[in-house]
Amino acid sequence: MLIQQIQDEVGPTTIIKDPYEAQPSHDMRSPMISGGMLEKADFPVDEIKKTFAWNTDTMSQNLRKMQYAVRGQVVLKADILKNEGRQIIFTNIGNPHAVGQKSITYYRQILALCDLPAEYGVDHPVASQMFPADVLERARKYRAAIGSSGTGAYTNSQGIALFRDNIAKYISNRDGHPAHPGNIFLTNGASAGIQNCLTALISSDEDAIMIPIPQYPIYSALITLLGGQQVGYALDENMGWQVTQEVLEKSLADATAKGQKVKALAVINPGNPTGQVLDFAALEVLCLFCAKNGIVLLADEVYQRNVYVDNKEFISIKKVACESPGCKNLELISFHSTSKGLIGECGRRGGYMELHNICPDVQSELYKLACTGLCSGVAGQIMTSLMVEPPVKGDDSYDQFQQEEFDILSSLIRRSTSLVKGLNAIPGITCQTAEGSMYAFPSIQIPLGAIEAAKADGQSPDTFYALSLLEATGICVVPASGFGQEKGRIGFRTTFLPPEDTLNQAIAGLEMHHEIFCKRYA
Ligand SMILES: Cc1ncc(COP(=O)(O)O)c(C=O)c1O
Repeated sequence: MLIQQIQDEVGPTTIIKDPYEAQPSHDMRSPMISGGMLEKADFPVDEIKKTFAWNTDTMSQNLRKMQYAVRGQVVLKADILKNEGRQIIFTNIGNPHAVGQKSITYYRQILALCDLPAEYGVDHPVASQMFPADVLERARKYRAAIGSSGTGAYTNSQGIALFRDNIAKYISNRDGHPAHPGNIFLTNGASAGIQNCLTALISSDEDAIMIPIPQYPIYSALITLLGGQQVGYALDENMGWQVTQEVLEKSLADATAKGQKVKALAVINPGNPTGQVLDFAALEVLCLFCAKNGIVLLADEVYQRNVYVDNKEFISIKKVACESPGCKNLELISFHSTSKGLIGECGRRGGYMELHNICPDVQSELYKLACTGLCSGVAGQIMTSLMVEPPVKGDDSYDQFQQEEFDILSSLIRRSTSLVKGLNAIPGITCQTAEGSMYAFPSIQIPLGAIEAAKADGQSPDTFYALSLLEATGICVVPASGFGQEKGRIGFRTTFLPPEDTLNQAIAGLEMHHEIFCKRYA
């Protein structure tokens, strides 16, 4: 009856079936080794390790321990359901183009012209009828910078020189403080930069990295993979996910007392999954704390264009480091990406990191590490340079570019507002304002019966809840436990990236599901 109610409200296409009849699959790994590859089921359990020298006993145990919730159990289940023909609303990952965001024309035109042989592109007789003059000019300039080998050749491991110049100019203009192309590394998304820095930081199993709780799980995953330890510093939900000096000091003191050596601290601003935008004072607390304690600051600023509230603006940590008197010796690495912002081209794998006040010998080692990856993808490098060097007033492309950016930003503002409002309207769900980034991170109250049922099923309560939501409505969220959270808190992370009508449908589905879920376990 209640399921029928949901179907009436939300529409039949997204509804799957009564979650309480569903048999959740516990073997979430099998789909990963199916499809043309050897099937796990072909091997009796006791024989598999005799058949393969490289098996789960002999492989990297750190990799086995590593977890990555954004593509974890609930998402794997969603993939299975999708393959069975069910319609799934994927709100688990900040991947805008996967859920309908359109590319910005200017970027695609230049990418295409950089890739095409000159005679089919920049030098084609009708090129000037097909492309705005500034696009052709920019494409020619980029082609010259890439060199005659074109986009199919490896580049300098740190990235193409012109693009590093452009990034340095962008940072200097943004912050009002100089940046140097020699300190810029183009990377395959921010992820590759983060991975390289953590690789270079963690030198023993006592080494620890401070990460926000909740955090974007690339940090916990890579720390585990690299054999380090994580030290959480809790963000205060009641204060809009702010960070406080007391919490930082206590986390460090506790870690030191346990023999952990804190090497670095990661900050994500605007926050993922928490959506807060930190002001100068909050950033200064972090900078001073790191400077005072000789801790390298990793500033994850991939959402710097994603700020949705009038009373907040993005301020870079580099700016704070340059302007705050106690931060002269702060060792800082900042990350940016073409996956987020208004571009949202996650598959392009563009990004950069800027090193500020990093030991030259360490910088050389980071360069050596970049060399082992040869270079970051050339399309990603082009996109990164375009991100920091958009068309300016007077360029033929300017008006269209502005309009396309405006449409994306204004829709993100509407969607962030309606999702948070919709969540807060559901009795038992509370959600802080999503001031920035692409996510809402609500806290939910569920009956004790549900917590016990989750335990009996071997699930965390929020995984149990997320699987139920998926089964009932086709909405795929990530259990909050995958990001880390205060003990006893239950919640999930959802993006607000699906198109506005789909998102509204999802909000209705969330409400209906929460109601039947709570009734069921009351
Ligand atoms: C906070 C944060 N940092 C880094 C990344 C990695 O992004 P990419 O490697 O696509 O640039 C993400 C992706 O969602 C993110 O949310």
